[in-house]
Amino acid sequence: MKCPASLTARLSLQFAGTAACVLFAAGLLFERVGENQLQEHYRMELDGKMELVRNVLGSIASPVSLDALRMRLRDAIVISHPGIAITVAASDGTRLFSVGQAEVVKHLLEGTEASKPKPVIWTLDNRTYRIRTEHLAFGIPDSQPANVAIALDITEEIEFMAKFMRLLWLGMTLAALALGWLGWVAVRRGLSPLHNISAMVANVSAQRLDKPLPTECVPRELEELVSAFNRMLAQLHDSFRRLSEFSADIAHELRTPINNMMMQTQVTLSRERDSGEYQTNLQSNLEELERLSRMLSDMLFLATADNSLVVPKQEVIELQAEVAKLFDFYEALAGESHVRLVQSGAATVCADRLMIQRALSNLLSNAIRFTPEGMAVEVTLGERADQAMIAVANPGPEIPAEHLPRIFERLYRVDAARREGNTENVGLGLAITKSIVEMHGGTIGAESAQGRTRFTITLPQQKTA
Ligand SMILES: Nc1ncnc2c1ncn2[C@@H]1O[C@H](COP(=O)(O)OP(=O)(O)O)[C@@H](O)[C@H]1O
Ligand SMILES: [Mg+2]
Repeated sequence: MKCPASLTARLSLQFAGTAACVLFAAGLLFERVGENQLQEHYRMELDGKMELVRNVLGSIASPVSLDALRMRLRDAIVISHPGIAITVAASDGTRLFSVGQAEVVKHLLEGTEASKPKPVIWTLDNRTYRIRTEHLAFGIPDSQPANVAIALDITEEIEFMAKFMRLLWLGMTLAALALGWLGWVAVRRGLSPLHNISAMVANVSAQRLDKPLPTECVPRELEELVSAFNRMLAQLHDSFRRLSEFSADIAHELRTPINNMMMQTQVTLSRERDSGEYQTNLQSNLEELERLSRMLSDMLFLATADNSLVVPKQEVIELQAEVAKLFDFYEALAGESHVRLVQSGAATVCADRLMIQRALSNLLSNAIRFTPEGMAVEVTLGERADQAMIAVANPGPEIPAEHLPRIFERLYRVDAARREGNTENVGLGLAITKSIVEMHGGTIGAESAQGRTRFTITLPQQKTA
């Protein structure tokens, strides 16, 4: 059977079903107990009557006193119970005594002949009798016992019982319906916090991601759900905020070089120029376009890395050799600003060579950029517990603590104003480095204190994934 979709309906039905079952069982029990009690009552009544007859018969000491039988029985039984019918017959079938309705007496006499020992229920003209027959001895020595039969009219009791049971079942049915309805009301009330939460969740929109659902008036069972939802909301809010900032930043980053190119081109086109000027203009446009293209390919790299579309190669790399190569590459730049490049230690990793070069190159170019003249950038390599460690440290301006957690975000720069006019540093370098490190199953961290900034990369020597 398909479960009802609504929780209220399901719980109410379960509750009503259980209540109906319990009431039905109670009804059956009542009926059975009532029936037994009634039967017990008839049995005792008939036992009592039979005992009286036994006493009367036992007191008949001689055939002469048989005449007294009639009177004594009438006095003892019939007067106390007018609805009763009794027959006493001698063993040869002679009727010694009978009282009661003619039809009943006739049946009793036939019954005594058949000498049915057990009490039976017998119906005549819509009336019900309970009959008991027995052989009872006279007080006369050596006499044959008499056949005694008693019929008790139990019609009233049976009708009363039937009426009582009808009322009981009606009451039980009404009680089951009432309990079903009460159950439905209780479940609806009990589940109302769920409706409230649904209403609150339905109100959550992109603009309201920063407003968590209130947890104070939530039942304990739903607290965990609401907390989990709030945690998800906070994460969504954070991602949403970064995404909006990121798109605003992209627009800004693209606008500056495009505006520059537009202005230069407009100025160049404003009047007739010789071919040399056109060439200069095209050259400068080309440089801007190259930067734009680099920026776009960086973003594309990050986007594909995000979607796990980049699969790093696995090569054994001697890191000290790679750092030496990078030092060669950056020698000229470092020399220009009188910065020394120092490396120490050694480490081997299994990774994608080009990506590792790109990651380290971003760290080195930053370090050289921020190192004051005459000082040194230090790259330290090492291995510890199946991990290769790379540290790039440089003296220079510290990164304020509040910026440290964010420098790995895309397009994030500590001091965006400082690079105005320099379209090279758009703030994607550290994001790319982090993305490459994480792609290799490693971690990256930054610390900046006492005039020194240090980036530390940890890479598993064998790729774990
Ligand atoms: N060695 C460093 N010393 C001080 N600040 C640094 C250093 N490396 C990075 N930063 C800060 O982190 C920011 C982000 O770096 P990055 O992502 O490489 O962007 P970009 O180099 O394009 O500015 C930089 O703008 C700079 O403010
Ligand atoms: Mg950089």
